Amino acid sequence: MTIAAQERLIRPARNVYGSLRLPGDKSISHRYAMLGAFAAGTSRFTNFSTGADCASTLACMQALGAKVARTGNDSIEIAGVAGRVTPTARPLDCGNSGTTMRMISGLLAPQTGRFTLIGDESLSRRPMERIRKPLELMGARLTLTEGHAPLTIEGGPLRPIDYTTPVPSAQIKSCVLFAGLQATGMTTVHEAVRTRDHTELALRAFGATLTRTSASVSIAGPQRLRAIDAAVPGDLSSAAFFLCAASLFPGSSLVVDSIGLNPTRATLLDVLTALGARVAVLHLEEKHAELAGTVQISAPPEGLGSTEICGVLAAQLIDELPVLAAIAPFTRGGIRIRGARELRVKESDRIALVAKNLRAMGAEVAEFEDGLDVPGGQALHGAVIDSGGDHRIAMAFSVAALRAEGDTLIQGADSAAISFPEFFNLLDLVAER
Ligand code: S3P
Repeated sequence: MTIAAQERLIRPARNVYGSLRLPGDKSISHRYAMLGAFAAGTSRFTNFSTGADCASTLACMQALGAKVARTGNDSIEIAGVAGRVTPTARPLDCGNSGTTMRMISGLLAPQTGRFTLIGDESLSRRPMERIRKPLELMGARLTLTEGHAPLTIEGGPLRPIDYTTPVPSAQIKSCVLFAGLQATGMTTVHEAVRTRDHTELALRAFGATLTRTSASVSIAGPQRLRAIDAAVPGDLSSAAFFLCAASLFPGSSLVVDSIGLNPTRATLLDVLTALGARVAVLHLEEKHAELAGTVQISAPPEGLGSTEICGVLAAQLIDELPVLAAIAPFTRGGIRIRGARELRVKESDRIALVAKNLRAMGAEVAEFEDGLDVPGGQALHGAVIDSGGDHRIAMAFSVAALRAEGDTLIQGADSAAISFPEFFNLLDLVAER
């Protein structure tokens, strides 16, 4: 069989064993890059994400006047613009990254000038109305293309806002907070479901003051930011593929060093524990209020049990749901996911693609508008997987392929580089054949 450059053949494994250290968290890297570029002074980051998404953020911030220097494969230095970006006539290319487009829009809306943001085909299909609304209420003007990118911002001084996010989204919350940082007066964002709080922690690390209640966060603008030095914790959403893989093989043992364990992100560990996996956190440390720890995992001899994920859990596990659904056939009792409608507007329609690819591997699965039912106790066979160019689908089905009968061909496997270019090399390292 000839395998194209963007494809990958995954052979079944006997076990998953070893130890890994993973590149820096994508969400934290985006925020450190944006705030470092916006602050006064020079910030230095180590273990910065190696993914293409964070490279898109760095390129945009550089086009806006920040000076970015790579001081190693995963270390960078950013000389910030001290609160005033340089408008550029050239469109800012956000690539595949929704986080880049939505959050940079919040930084730019209060800046005087006209900015155009573009993205690739997938990003140009994703909903942007969700950021237009709050930013226009603050006084900015945004022009979208049928609700999507390309988007143009006519920036200028903004008024503060009291805003309730319509869908659970850290990106919308962050966009409004970045605009609120520069508006005059108190901006408050209320959220029904507490989403990841990296923006709040990063803003504080860069010297801003925020106040928080259980369901809201407020920032009194304008405030100035000052540069920091920081080490980015390893990416838990990348670790998820390996933790799930290890939890499928009785006799497995995997140690992942220094991964981000921020409580708004670490729900996967609770779910794997509830499924019966043995999970231990070997030591915990705190870096700029972000928790990091070493996680050891092994599979239960009797196999994983069953679980239901809905409501708050679905929002907090949003990036881990594809891999959980992909391993669900190998559980004893299956996994039921609801309240995850947002999965349909990620880099792909992840509900549809997970269902399609599980069926291609011979599994039974029921698809719902906001989730999936994947019964347990199913054997899968190798198949051709359509990743839809979506990094998390490509990696999720590479994990399922380890337990399938026969080989699996992942189409669009190169998309893994969006968040995790090292994925396939590390998988070869720990998958015993
Ligand atoms: C992210 C938030 C989530 C997540 C994305 C990264 C972030 O998106 O899916 O991969 O860094 O804030 P939403 O905030 O739109 O749910």
